Amino acid sequence: MDAPADRPGAPDGLSLRLDDARPNVGYSAMAALPGFAPESLILPAGPGRLLLYQPALRLGTAVSHAALQALLDGAPVDAEVEAADVSAFSLERCLHDNSRGTRDAAGAALARMPLAELRALLGRQGILAVDSAHLERRGKKRLALDPGKLGNFHQQIGASLARRKLDPESWWVDQKFESDRSGFRDTPYRWCQEPFLGELFAGAKGQTWLDFGCGVGFYARRIAAAGGRVFGVDPSEAYVAAARALCPEGEFEALRFESREDFARLKDRRFDRIFLSDVLLYFFEPYAPLGLSAADVLSELAGRLAPGGRLLVLDPHGAFFLQPRLGSPEAPLALCTEYRTRRFRATPTLEELSRAVEAAGLKIARIRELFAPPAPGAGLDRRFAEEFPAWWFFELLR
Ligand SMILES: C[S@@+](CC[C@H](N)C(=O)[O-])C[C@H]1O[C@@H](n2cnc3c(N)ncnc32)[C@H](O)[C@@H]1O
Repeated sequence: MDAPADRPGAPDGLSLRLDDARPNVGYSAMAALPGFAPESLILPAGPGRLLLYQPALRLGTAVSHAALQALLDGAPVDAEVEAADVSAFSLERCLHDNSRGTRDAAGAALARMPLAELRALLGRQGILAVDSAHLERRGKKRLALDPGKLGNFHQQIGASLARRKLDPESWWVDQKFESDRSGFRDTPYRWCQEPFLGELFAGAKGQTWLDFGCGVGFYARRIAAAGGRVFGVDPSEAYVAAARALCPEGEFEALRFESREDFARLKDRRFDRIFLSDVLLYFFEPYAPLGLSAADVLSELAGRLAPGGRLLVLDPHGAFFLQPRLGSPEAPLALCTEYRTRRFRATPTLEELSRAVEAAGLKIARIRELFAPPAPGAGLDRRFAEEFPAWWFFELLR
């Protein structure tokens, strides 16, 4: 906080004096500011402006210093101030893009508006709050069009893609892989996963692998390149066709798994390794009710392991993936706004994962957390991936 200012009219105990000449001063507001929701934050957002941010809802408004000062001073409701709602769920580059849920507050064009309008906007965003009612907006929609809830990550992806008229099946692949699907795009997938794939597939030579939920066959191709025999299954006919084209050495089948009985479709096949990449999480938080838990999936797959076989689960990290990323490249920070109750996140907790493993009669042999190797001078996203793990990996055995 800046130095106290004896300002007539400043609320009791409040000593904020905003100074345009010091653009990099960072303020965190919280309960100290009268009228602000306790969890709301004030973050620096370039010269003369700030981001007022509600982390529990991932909504934010960019304001000029003068606008915040007007709020704090209780200026007349018709006083003109400059502000812009910068809330956004972008995912423009990849699934990890813009976990904060706001557009660039430093670059946004501020609009002039009466202070009353800014107060109303901040009220809707739960930044100015008379009570905790705004927190009711957190959480999963029970119906796709439920206006009372903002929706979890996957629901917001669905809404965002629908707004942009993008097909989820191809968007998901395009944001992850280069157009010829030979590699990851320059995103956390590449930074965190590429260095790990060598270790992951090191022993594949001569082994038989099942790639469960294989998508377009990217990993299957790597397994085959490492000398493994690979069988890939996925409910999507389109993905299976793409996998066959990408990995002609592999065998692929379009199979849907929605109940324990469906696993009979694997017939009497046995595998040295069964690999699931970005698949198991969906069984903890299915899009639609499913007669199959994560423990059921692990248990059924465990029954298909050859002697000495292993299940390999690579999933978005439960603790930090999808938490709002803030700070600067020098000091990247994550806000853990939820852990046990999934309101926005779509990943299980560590204990939920462990319980599924236990219920399937499996043991954890190895856990890895996937970080990006250091890249001096990199921007916030990359620095963030150096500091916080984007995926976790579990090697399971019977
Ligand atoms: C996020 S994608 C991951 C694909 C691939 N493993 C990868 O990492 O590139 C999730 C995959 O799970 C598949 N899937 C969805 N429901 C499934 C189910 N019930 N059983 C098996 N796979 C499923 C989807 O079709 C999709 O290919």
